[in-house]
This record gives sequence, C-alpha cells and structure tokens, in this order.
Amino acid sequence: TFVHSKSLAELEFLHDGAVFVNESGAIVAIEESCDEAKAKKEIFSRLGWAETDVDIVRAKNGQFFFPGFIDTHIHASQYPNAGIFGQSTLLDWLNTYTFPLEASLADPAKARRVYSRVVRRTLAHGTTCAAYYATIDAASTNLLADLCFAAGQRALIGRVCMDQLSPDYYRDASPEAVMAATRQTIDHIRAVDPQMEIVRPIITPRFAPACSIDLMRQLANLANEQNLPIQTHISENVNEIALVKSLFPPSATGAAPSEDNGQDATSYAAVYDAAGLLTERTILAHAVHLTEGEARLVARRGAKVSHCPCSNSALGSGAARVRWFLDRGIGCSLGSDVSGGYSPSVLEAARAAVLVSRHVAQGAAAAGRAAQEEADRQKLSVKEVLYLATRGGAEAVGLAPKVGGFEVGMEWDAQLVGLCAVGEDGEVEGTENGGGGDDGNVDVFGWESWPDRIAKWVYTGDDRNTKKVWVKGRLVHERK
Ligand code: GUN
Ligand code: FE
Repeated sequence: TFVHSKSLAELEFLHDGAVFVNESGAIVAIEESCDEAKAKKEIFSRLGWAETDVDIVRAKNGQFFFPGFIDTHIHASQYPNAGIFGQSTLLDWLNTYTFPLEASLADPAKARRVYSRVVRRTLAHGTTCAAYYATIDAASTNLLADLCFAAGQRALIGRVCMDQLSPDYYRDASPEAVMAATRQTIDHIRAVDPQMEIVRPIITPRFAPACSIDLMRQLANLANEQNLPIQTHISENVNEIALVKSLFPPSATGAAPSEDNGQDATSYAAVYDAAGLLTERTILAHAVHLTEGEARLVARRGAKVSHCPCSNSALGSGAARVRWFLDRGIGCSLGSDVSGGYSPSVLEAARAAVLVSRHVAQGAAAAGRAAQEEADRQKLSVKEVLYLATRGGAEAVGLAPKVGGFEVGMEWDAQLVGLCAVGEDGEVEGTENGGGGDDGNVDVFGWESWPDRIAKWVYTGDDRNTKKVWVKGRLVHERK
C-alpha cells in the first residue's frame, strides 16, 4: 500500500500497488493492483528493464509506503539540548542554553559528533529533507553539509548570520565578515554537490534582533543574485516582537507605511521586507503573532511559514494559527525547531500541530472571537498535517513538485512504515505477518480502516515504526 497526500483535503491510498524507480531515483511508473508477475511481465518490458537488474523491495502485509518527511526548520547545532529548556522563554533560552552550545561547536570534533548524530537520528524518523541551521562557524557548517551528503539526506545548510545584540563570544564581527564566511560555505557546498541534488546552501540571517539592517540587506542581495533560498525566524515571542519594534524604527529601515506592508512600516514582516528578505524562496519559522497586515504582506511576497508547534508549546511562545495562514494563502509546512522543539521527529510535530490547532479553536471560541462553527474550523485533521509534513514542506524548500508525493516524474523520497499486528490470541504477530514484532509502537487489530491506521500512526507512532527510508532511490536508513 502506498499512501500520500494529493492535496490538503485528500490522502490517497494505492493498494496492492507497485512504484517503479529508475537508477536516478525518479518514479517512472505507478501501478495499482499490480502483483509481481504482472509487474515483471508487463511493466518491466514496457520500461525495457531486465529482471536481473531490478531490486525489488516488498512491503510486508500491513506495512505501507509514505513520502519522506520534510523538516523545514531545525537547528542541527542545538540537537544535544533537545528536551533541555526548563521554564525559559525565547530570549532567556537563547542566552542560557543556546548560544553557549552553538559557540562550543567551533570545536570540529564536537561538531562532528553532534552533526553525525542529528543526521542519523532525523533519517531514522523518516526525515528525507531538512532545512538546517548550523552555527556561525563556517568550517563546521561545511562539515554538516559533508555529513548530509555522505548520508544521502537532502539538506539546506545555513551558516547562521548574526552581527548584533548577541554575546561577545558568539557574534559576527561585521557584515563584511559575515558575507565572506557565507560565501565560503556556499562555495564549499557547491563543490560537494555541484548538481545541488542533495545539499544546497540557504541564506540564514538568524532573526531581526541579531542582524543589522545593513547585514540583512547584503544577505538579501546575495540570495537574490544567486537565486538562493532564505530562512529566518519571525514573530515567535511577544518580547522579541517588542525588541524588533524598538530596534528598527522607520528611520532605521527607511520603510514607510504602504498598502504592501499593511500600513505598518514597523512590523516584524515590514522590517524583513524593507531588507528584501521576503521572497518566494523564504522560509519563516513560527509566525505565531503575525498581524493581518503582516499576513497580507507575507502572502503577497510568497514567503512560506514553517509551523513549529512543539517549540512554540515548549517555550510558551504561543499557538500559531495554521488555518488562518492557509485562509490567507500562505504556504505552510512543519518544523521540529530542535531544540526550541524537544523532538527531532516531524511525526511529533504533525501530532503537536493537530493538538495546538485544538487550543487555537478553543481559545477563539472562549474569547468570543469566533462563533463555534468558525472556531471548529481552526482544527487541523490528520490528513492536513501530513500534507504539511510532505507536500507543504516540498513547497517551502523549493523542491515541489520533485518530492513530497508519489507521482510519475517525482523522485523516490520515501519511508516504509510498519505497525504492530495483534493476532487472534492477543499476542503481537511477528514481522512475517506485517507486524513490527515488539519493535513497533502502534497496535493494529486488523479491523481498522486505512484512515484509522494512519491516524493511529500519527498519534501514537515513532521511529520504531519507520522501517526503511530512501532518498532519490537510495536506501539511507534501515531499522535493524
Ligand atoms: N530566534 C532566534 N534564534 C532562535 C533559535 O535558535 N530558535 C528559535 N526557536 N528561535 C530563535
Ligand atoms: Fe528556530
């Protein structure tokens, strides 16, 4: 069985199917109700394939293939701190936990240890593509690119840029120093993967408070010249938003109220727009507290949001209104935001997105901001969050329509998921019957519909259910 999102509203199930992937990892044929004999007799000959040259991957009964997850916001450098945040909120969390750890990864041995692990761990959770933040250290940022390339994980690799307001021990000396280091990482990544099929550079101004307007402008120009993607944070926390207002008055940005910026030249989004950072290739993490005017501006520029519900819950940042983004035409995807987020799993982010949307709905109804029916519409469904985790992510990282689903012409970035089959005697059946043995974490009794099985996976599954993972046709993870 192959399961994938056709749209936000539709999850498609192809039963007894077969997907044919060529040597370059491209899907060249998809057949429903296709047994092995038919595949070999009809499809192989149509494709001109010799049976002896073909590797056949068989899903066991009850297992299913699903597109690989796309994590559109994760700090590889913060992985050792996943789960460690205490009672902090964004700005004190950065100073207490985050900057010291990131600075310490200038040690190449430590960076190798951390980055090797985060790549292995995210692959094990079915993440076939990630938009990573590294640190301000160019050499270890390059190392992260090397490791992703070697492991075969698609990755956008960002050297973090920050020339103000952060501590002396962890701050870029000047915009010029940033540009030199950033160019060095871009050149390195291009040399590692000239086709930019697996690893690509991404321009990464950390967030407005940590960047001078001059730096943001130079980074925007570079991204523009080289057609590179951009990632940053926006409107995550109320104190952060107040800080942006105080740091970037219109006299600093030269921005004037206009229809484009929702008549507010001092909003967070207007500051990025004044610098030229809002583009169709821009991923904005969080966007929890955007105003109507900012949402219009973001939608008009075609920038995408990375919704990070685990992080926003952990750091008490607030509850982002995903339905509200979608209603305004803003493309949405999911980010783990390790280590603001406690989990490297996109499945966990999908689950949290469903739960947070319940709080958004309940809050709107309780505060009288919406009638019950409208409030209920804020709730996201399982199929919607799975869309955000795959197709939405592909849009955000600029890989649509190459990955994110199963269609002829797309590339085989996929995971094989196994659930635990419970036998007649109440014991878990072995893997030969499609169960994950004791390894799986989702019990299936056999009477569940396919949408119910998917819902069980989303709410109770984890990396134990992720049996195999492929990127561009290459097996990049197998659960032993
Ligand atoms: N804002 C600026 N830097 C960060 C970061 O590392 N994580 C999160 N969640 N927000 C940020
Ligand atoms: Fe973040």
